[in-house]
Amino acid sequence: MRPQVFVTRQLPSPAIGRLAEVCDYQIGVERGVLNRDSLLAGVREVDGLICLLTDAIDREVIEAGTRLRVIANVAVGYNNIDMAAARARGVYVTNTPDVLTEATANLTWALILAVTRRIVEADAFTRAGKFTGWDFDMMLGSGITGKTLGVVGYGRIGRAVARRATGFGMQVIYCGRDDVAFRDDPRHNSIMIARQGNTSPLSQSARLDGLAARRVSFYQLLEMADIVTLHVPLAAATRHLIDRGAFARMKPTAYLINTSRGPVVDEAALVGALRERRIAGAGLDVYEREPEISAPLLEMSNLVLLPHIGSATLETRTAMAMLAVENAIDVLSGRAPRSEVRL
Ligand code: GLV
Repeated sequence: MRPQVFVTRQLPSPAIGRLAEVCDYQIGVERGVLNRDSLLAGVREVDGLICLLTDAIDREVIEAGTRLRVIANVAVGYNNIDMAAARARGVYVTNTPDVLTEATANLTWALILAVTRRIVEADAFTRAGKFTGWDFDMMLGSGITGKTLGVVGYGRIGRAVARRATGFGMQVIYCGRDDVAFRDDPRHNSIMIARQGNTSPLSQSARLDGLAARRVSFYQLLEMADIVTLHVPLAAATRHLIDRGAFARMKPTAYLINTSRGPVVDEAALVGALRERRIAGAGLDVYEREPEISAPLLEMSNLVLLPHIGSATLETRTAMAMLAVENAIDVLSGRAPRSEVRL
């Protein structure tokens, strides 16, 4: 008998075509988010689940899927999946790294440029017929050349964002997963400060990427960066990583960019920081309670808001769907999946 797969939402046809070569499948919904009852019903009699970041794959769903062998998320983030529940039942969890790195890094730069050069505001101004003549100080933005980009999270996407900074003549500082996790550990921070000679193996490994990025502690990064860009997964150590205290450390001329996960930023603290001009502005692709957005953010002009489109190119979304399907097929054909989430 062919393996049975439940796909929560319609995916690009090349991916569904590939799935059909090996498995029987059912699609939950054509567009939008599948409702809870249909998700619970859909998972009941299948060997594989292909799902999206908007599907809450919690313990109840995983336990309802008594035959389930693989949960293939069509996303690199997997905070929508209860990893402990999946592990307890021996279910593989897979994600879609690499294929979305460049698209997400490009979108991050689109936000950096849009917010610092007031692109959205300038477009609205022009469309409203307010461009009645060139003026010397019209729509002045903030330059980025010669300034410092602070990359929080130096995984695939963080590094891809950093690489692009050389083209804009920016210096790059970064902190990695440990620098975030141990940000309040005095021992870790004193080691980081001692390393500032920039001769450590860690800073050399950043140079191997073709750019001279300097590793600093999380708090040093907040204090030094002109642009703080977030590329960490959502986890206990990163929830509200950017809170009131973090904003207080940032330069008043700095910008915050978030294309990772909304709850990494305390949205109420962000509203306060923007209102009080604690920072110069922000570019957001993700929100704390998606799709809800804190109302005051919608009124502010010193920020650019996008509807979680980091990986939203036709090529990338197709590649993500293909990779998720291949992961499901791997497991259901008795092989290890090509991109298993390992904690
Ligand atoms: C998008 O947000 C993803 O995690 O792929």
